[in-house]
Amino acid sequence: MKPLLQLALDNLSLQDGLNTLQGGVAQAVDIIEAGTLLICAEGVQAVGQLRRLFPEKPLVADFKIADAGSVLGGLIAGQKPDYMTVICAADNGTKAAVKKEADRQGAVVQVELYGRWQMDDVKAWKELGITHVIYHRSRDAAGEWGQTDLACVKALCSMGMDVTVTGGVGYDELELFAGLPIFAIICGRSIRDAADPCGQVLRMKERIDQLWA
Ligand code: 5RP
Repeated sequence: MKPLLQLALDNLSLQDGLNTLQGGVAQAVDIIEAGTLLICAEGVQAVGQLRRLFPEKPLVADFKIADAGSVLGGLIAGQKPDYMTVICAADNGTKAAVKKEADRQGAVVQVELYGRWQMDDVKAWKELGITHVIYHRSRDAAGEWGQTDLACVKALCSMGMDVTVTGGVGYDELELFAGLPIFAIICGRSIRDAADPCGQVLRMKERIDQLWA
Protein backbone atom coordinates (compact mmCIF):
# COMPACT_ATOMS: atom_id res chain seq x y z
CA MET A 1 0.00 0.00 0.00
CA LYS A 2 1.56 3.23 -1.22
CA PRO A 3 0.82 6.37 0.86
CA LEU A 4 -1.02 9.34 -0.58
CA LEU A 5 0.68 12.74 -0.53
CA GLN A 6 -1.32 15.37 1.35
CA LEU A 7 -0.47 19.06 1.14
CA ALA A 8 -1.21 21.06 4.29
CA LEU A 9 -2.25 24.62 3.52
CA ASP A 10 -1.20 26.32 6.73
CA ASN A 11 -1.15 29.63 4.90
CA LEU A 12 -2.42 32.63 6.83
CA SER A 13 -4.83 33.71 4.11
CA LEU A 14 -6.97 31.80 1.65
CA GLN A 15 -5.49 33.79 -1.22
CA ASP A 16 -2.01 32.72 -0.19
CA GLY A 17 -3.22 29.11 0.03
CA LEU A 18 -4.69 29.34 -3.45
CA ASN A 19 -1.38 30.77 -4.70
CA THR A 20 0.35 27.68 -3.27
CA LEU A 21 -2.00 25.49 -5.31
CA GLN A 22 -1.11 27.22 -8.59
CA GLY A 23 1.18 25.81 -11.28
CA GLY A 24 -0.18 22.28 -11.19
CA VAL A 25 0.23 21.73 -7.43
CA ALA A 26 -3.50 21.15 -6.82
CA GLN A 27 -3.58 18.54 -9.56
CA ALA A 28 -0.34 16.84 -8.49
CA VAL A 29 -1.10 16.27 -4.81
CA ASP A 30 -3.45 13.47 -3.77
CA ILE A 31 -5.18 15.33 -0.93
CA ILE A 32 -5.55 19.03 -0.13
CA GLU A 33 -5.71 20.03 3.52
CA ALA A 34 -7.24 23.22 4.87
CA GLY A 35 -4.68 23.53 7.68
CA THR A 36 -5.37 24.52 11.26
CA LEU A 37 -3.58 27.82 10.74
CA LEU A 38 -5.63 28.63 7.63
CA ILE A 39 -8.93 27.80 9.33
CA CYS A 40 -7.96 29.92 12.35
CA ALA A 41 -7.01 32.81 10.10
CA GLU A 42 -9.92 32.67 7.67
CA GLY A 43 -12.68 30.67 9.36
CA VAL A 44 -14.48 27.55 8.22
CA GLN A 45 -15.45 29.28 4.97
CA ALA A 46 -11.93 28.54 3.75
CA VAL A 47 -12.83 24.84 3.76
CA GLY A 48 -16.00 25.53 1.77
CA GLN A 49 -14.11 27.66 -0.77
CA LEU A 50 -11.58 24.89 -1.33
CA ARG A 51 -14.45 22.39 -1.67
CA ARG A 52 -16.11 24.53 -4.35
CA LEU A 53 -12.87 25.19 -6.24
CA PHE A 54 -11.69 21.56 -6.14
CA PRO A 55 -14.88 19.48 -6.04
CA GLU A 56 -13.18 16.24 -7.08
CA LYS A 57 -10.08 16.47 -4.90
CA PRO A 58 -10.04 14.74 -1.51
CA LEU A 59 -10.14 17.54 1.10
CA VAL A 60 -9.20 17.49 4.78
CA ALA A 61 -10.39 20.10 7.28
CA ASP A 62 -7.72 20.04 9.98
CA PHE A 63 -9.32 21.97 12.80
CA LYS A 64 -8.25 19.49 15.53
CA ILE A 65 -11.56 19.84 17.36
CA ALA A 66 -11.06 19.67 21.13
CA ASP A 67 -14.55 20.27 22.56
CA ALA A 68 -18.12 21.20 21.61
CA GLY A 69 -18.12 18.32 19.15
CA SER A 70 -21.66 18.85 17.84
CA VAL A 71 -21.25 22.57 17.21
CA LEU A 72 -17.71 22.61 15.84
CA GLY A 73 -18.17 19.25 14.12
CA GLY A 74 -21.34 20.58 12.49
CA LEU A 75 -19.62 23.80 11.38
CA ILE A 76 -16.77 21.90 9.77
CA ALA A 77 -18.80 19.02 8.31
CA GLY A 78 -21.18 21.56 6.76
CA GLN A 79 -18.33 22.70 4.51
CA LYS A 80 -18.25 19.19 3.01
CA PRO A 81 -14.66 18.05 3.55
CA ASP A 82 -13.90 14.36 2.98
CA TYR A 83 -11.94 14.13 6.24
CA MET A 84 -12.00 16.18 9.46
CA THR A 85 -9.78 16.04 12.51
CA VAL A 86 -10.32 15.85 16.25
CA ILE A 87 -7.51 16.09 18.79
CA CYS A 88 -6.59 12.95 20.75
CA ALA A 89 -7.02 14.74 24.09
CA ALA A 90 -10.69 15.50 23.39
CA ASP A 91 -13.21 13.66 25.53
CA ASN A 92 -14.54 10.55 23.82
CA GLY A 93 -17.97 12.19 23.99
CA THR A 94 -16.59 14.97 21.80
CA LYS A 95 -15.14 12.45 19.36
CA ALA A 96 -18.49 10.63 19.17
CA ALA A 97 -20.32 13.92 18.56
CA VAL A 98 -17.87 14.94 15.83
CA LYS A 99 -18.29 11.52 14.24
CA LYS A 100 -22.07 11.90 14.26
CA GLU A 101 -21.79 15.23 12.42
CA ALA A 102 -19.20 13.80 10.01
CA ASP A 103 -21.37 10.75 9.29
CA ARG A 104 -24.30 13.00 8.37
CA GLN A 105 -22.18 14.56 5.61
CA GLY A 106 -20.28 11.44 4.59
CA ALA A 107 -16.96 12.66 6.03
CA VAL A 108 -14.35 10.55 7.83
CA VAL A 109 -12.99 11.52 11.27
CA GLN A 110 -9.26 11.37 11.90
CA VAL A 111 -7.81 11.56 15.44
CA GLU A 112 -4.71 13.71 15.55
CA LEU A 113 -2.14 12.22 17.92
CA TYR A 114 0.08 14.60 19.84
CA GLY A 115 1.75 14.27 23.20
CA ARG A 116 -0.03 12.03 25.68
CA TRP A 117 -2.20 9.16 24.51
CA GLN A 118 -2.06 5.39 24.85
CA MET A 119 -2.75 2.36 22.69
CA ASP A 120 -5.78 1.58 24.91
CA ASP A 121 -7.22 4.96 23.86
CA VAL A 122 -6.93 3.86 20.24
CA LYS A 123 -8.97 0.73 21.03
CA ALA A 124 -11.69 2.93 22.55
CA TRP A 125 -11.74 5.18 19.46
CA LYS A 126 -12.10 2.08 17.29
CA GLU A 127 -15.13 1.13 19.35
CA LEU A 128 -16.61 4.53 18.44
CA GLY A 129 -16.07 3.60 14.79
CA ILE A 130 -13.05 5.87 14.29
CA THR A 131 -10.34 4.07 12.35
CA HIS A 132 -8.12 6.92 11.10
CA VAL A 133 -5.30 8.44 13.14
CA ILE A 134 -2.66 11.03 12.31
CA TYR A 135 0.70 10.49 14.03
CA HIS A 136 1.99 14.02 14.44
CA ARG A 137 5.41 15.19 15.58
CA SER A 138 4.63 18.68 16.77
CA ARG A 139 6.54 21.48 15.06
CA ASP A 140 7.31 22.69 18.60
CA ALA A 141 8.76 19.34 19.74
CA ALA A 142 12.49 19.01 20.22
CA GLY A 143 14.52 16.60 18.11
CA GLU A 144 13.69 14.72 14.95
CA TRP A 145 11.75 11.65 13.84
CA GLY A 146 13.24 8.66 15.65
CA GLN A 147 12.82 4.95 16.32
CA THR A 148 10.23 5.55 19.07
CA ASP A 149 8.03 7.44 16.61
CA LEU A 150 8.42 4.74 13.96
CA ALA A 151 7.66 1.95 16.44
CA CYS A 152 4.45 3.79 17.35
CA VAL A 153 3.48 4.21 13.69
CA LYS A 154 4.08 0.49 13.09
CA ALA A 155 2.03 -0.48 16.16
CA LEU A 156 -0.86 1.69 14.99
CA CYS A 157 -0.74 0.10 11.54
CA SER A 158 -0.75 -3.36 13.05
CA MET A 159 -3.87 -2.45 15.04
CA GLY A 160 -5.60 -2.07 11.69
CA MET A 161 -5.77 1.74 11.81
CA ASP A 162 -5.45 3.92 8.74
CA VAL A 163 -2.36 5.89 9.75
CA THR A 164 -1.22 9.24 8.39
CA VAL A 165 2.11 10.76 9.43
CA THR A 166 3.09 14.41 9.65
CA GLY A 167 5.30 17.00 11.26
CA GLY A 168 8.33 18.39 9.51
CA VAL A 169 8.29 15.76 6.78
CA GLY A 170 10.18 16.65 3.61
CA TYR A 171 11.84 14.76 0.78
CA ASP A 172 14.66 13.44 2.98
CA GLU A 173 12.28 12.10 5.66
CA LEU A 174 10.24 9.98 3.22
CA GLU A 175 12.63 7.06 3.46
CA LEU A 176 12.01 6.77 7.21
CA PHE A 177 8.58 5.35 6.40
CA ALA A 178 9.64 3.21 3.42
CA GLY A 179 7.37 0.23 2.92
CA LEU A 180 5.11 0.94 5.91
CA PRO A 181 1.40 0.48 5.15
CA ILE A 182 0.52 4.09 5.88
CA PHE A 183 -2.49 5.88 4.43
CA ALA A 184 -0.96 9.30 3.75
CA ILE A 185 2.01 11.55 4.37
CA ILE A 186 1.23 15.19 5.10
CA CYS A 187 3.73 17.83 4.04
CA GLY A 188 3.30 21.52 4.63
CA ARG A 189 6.34 23.75 4.77
CA SER A 190 8.53 21.41 2.70
CA ILE A 191 6.20 21.96 -0.27
CA ARG A 192 4.85 25.45 0.39
CA ASP A 193 8.29 26.94 0.96
CA ALA A 194 9.98 25.14 -1.96
CA ALA A 195 11.27 27.33 -4.80
CA ASP A 196 9.21 25.20 -7.20
CA PRO A 197 6.32 23.67 -5.20
CA CYS A 198 4.97 21.62 -8.13
CA GLY A 199 8.44 20.29 -8.93
CA GLN A 200 8.83 19.38 -5.26
CA VAL A 201 5.50 17.51 -5.21
CA LEU A 202 6.45 15.55 -8.34
CA ARG A 203 9.87 14.73 -6.91
CA MET A 204 8.31 13.52 -3.66
CA LYS A 205 5.73 11.41 -5.47
CA GLU A 206 8.46 9.81 -7.56
CA ARG A 207 10.39 9.05 -4.36
CA ILE A 208 7.27 7.50 -2.79
CA ASP A 209 6.87 5.32 -5.89
CA GLN A 210 10.48 4.14 -5.47
CA LEU A 211 10.28 3.55 -1.73
CA TRP A 212 6.98 1.64 -1.90
CA ALA A 213 7.73 -0.31 -5.13
C1 5RP B 1 0.09 21.78 12.12
C2 5RP B 1 -0.22 20.73 11.13
C3 5RP B 1 0.54 20.75 9.86
O1 5RP B 1 -0.38 21.01 8.85
C4 5RP B 1 1.26 19.49 9.48
O2 5RP B 1 2.02 18.99 10.51
C5 5RP B 1 2.21 19.72 8.30
O3 5RP B 1 3.09 20.72 8.63
P1 5RP B 1 4.66 20.76 8.31
O4 5RP B 1 4.94 19.77 7.20
O5 5RP B 1 4.87 22.19 7.88
O6 5RP B 1 5.36 20.38 9.59
O7 5RP B 1 -1.09 19.92 11.32
O8 5RP B 1 -0.78 21.71 13.19
